[in-house]
Amino acid sequence: MKRITVPLTISVLLLLVYGAIRLFSPHLLGPSVDKYVRAALLLGLSIGLVRGISFVLFDIVFQKRKGREAPALLRVLLSIVLYSIFLVVIYKVVLEEQGGGLELIATSTVVSVIIGLALQDTLGNFFAGLSIHIEQPFHILDAIRIGDMIGRVEAVSWRTTTIRTNNNTVVIFPNSRVARDPLEVYRFNNLNRHILLIPAPYHIPPQSVVGLIRDTVASIPNVAGEKTPIVRIGSFADSSVIYEVLYWTKDYMWVPEIDAQIRQHVWYIYRRSDIDIPFPVRHVLLEQQEPATRTAAPDYNKVIESVEIFAPLSAEEKQTVARSAVRSVFAPGELILRRGDPGESMFVIYRGSVEVRLSSRDGNAQQVAELKAGSFFGEMALLTGEPRNADVITVSEVETLEIRKGVLQQLLEDNSQLAEELSRTIAERQVHLDEYARMMPEEERRDNARTILRRIKGFFKLR
Ligand code: CMP
Repeated sequence: MKRITVPLTISVLLLLVYGAIRLFSPHLLGPSVDKYVRAALLLGLSIGLVRGISFVLFDIVFQKRKGREAPALLRVLLSIVLYSIFLVVIYKVVLEEQGGGLELIATSTVVSVIIGLALQDTLGNFFAGLSIHIEQPFHILDAIRIGDMIGRVEAVSWRTTTIRTNNNTVVIFPNSRVARDPLEVYRFNNLNRHILLIPAPYHIPPQSVVGLIRDTVASIPNVAGEKTPIVRIGSFADSSVIYEVLYWTKDYMWVPEIDAQIRQHVWYIYRRSDIDIPFPVRHVLLEQQEPATRTAAPDYNKVIESVEIFAPLSAEEKQTVARSAVRSVFAPGELILRRGDPGESMFVIYRGSVEVRLSSRDGNAQQVAELKAGSFFGEMALLTGEPRNADVITVSEVETLEIRKGVLQQLLEDNSQLAEELSRTIAERQVHLDEYARMMPEEERRDNARTILRRIKGFFKLR
């Protein structure tokens, strides 16, 4: 208010003094003094008026409509325009008495053109700054990316926009560039998403990698807790599977620090889990390796030993089974065996659990059994030569040891007890299965075992 009333009061006082002098001793005011006194009076009034208009427009109307402070640049612009108008008017009042109006217009046009050309860039920046202030595409503290520069917005003046980078350097962009170039804005306190790429070796199952990385990302400071990080396969590269780690942060300027922390955590996790950090590798395949010749890891012996049906086998024979078994890993929910398919091998579960399922008549799948580590499946088709009689689907991530027909053939020939053991299990399972299929009464179990034994002997040409 003071800013408005002071110039107005001074003007009014000057006006009174001027009036009094004109009334009582007009000889004191020569023509040139009179002219300047009037100009000063008008100037004082203009200052008061400009400040008054600015107050009404910005502090009352703008504030009421937008609910925030009007941009300083707008105030400055309005003041410049109004002052220019008032100055021209005052000058004209003084000049008209000198009769030089035309001269003034001609001179001012030439001067304007010269000034305009000289200030081309400055004016461009000024108007760009004006549009930034009005549109407000970003605010102080937001992070913005212009070209390959990224930094936190520190100040926006009528000519430039200043950002501070993570190297603590200040980059000043002319507003014309900010208004012209594509701009990426990461709002402060907004959930900004970022993707980090992390490689993992091909032989590590995605389920393991995803779980390990997701848990660690969530625990890193400045990763927004509102959204659970996502880890997914991004691509299959030359030497590794590339995982995309998606996380959210409320302050984008932390991204390089968060990325570094994630990489560091991953290094330790890989180290603890015996996972090699992938580096470019070129495999030269000299010979196609037969899956059957792949050897199982030594502790697979223990699983084979714990399988009931292998009880009649000698320790050496069990080791042979473990050595010749082919190790495979399946994802949760993966179909290992499909009902109706032919089968030439059986599986021992080393880790995880599977579900044996039968499709009911109405098309729904029914669980017949759940088999855990140490259990086996797929023996029915392998031993009888008939198609798989049920679907086998993993419940969790499952590691299996696959025993092929050739290996079993030798064992069956050397161990008559093994065939009996197997036929008993098969018969029990078959009855259970048939109960679900509502086809076979339970009393037929013994006869069925004998029939199955006959089928095994026939299929493997045993005596
Ligand atoms: P196979 O017929 O080769 O393929 C499907 C497998 O599901 C089957 O061998 C058995 O190993 C298994 N299976 C079928 N019925 C049962 C059951 N009742 N309990 C446990 N496993 C079963």
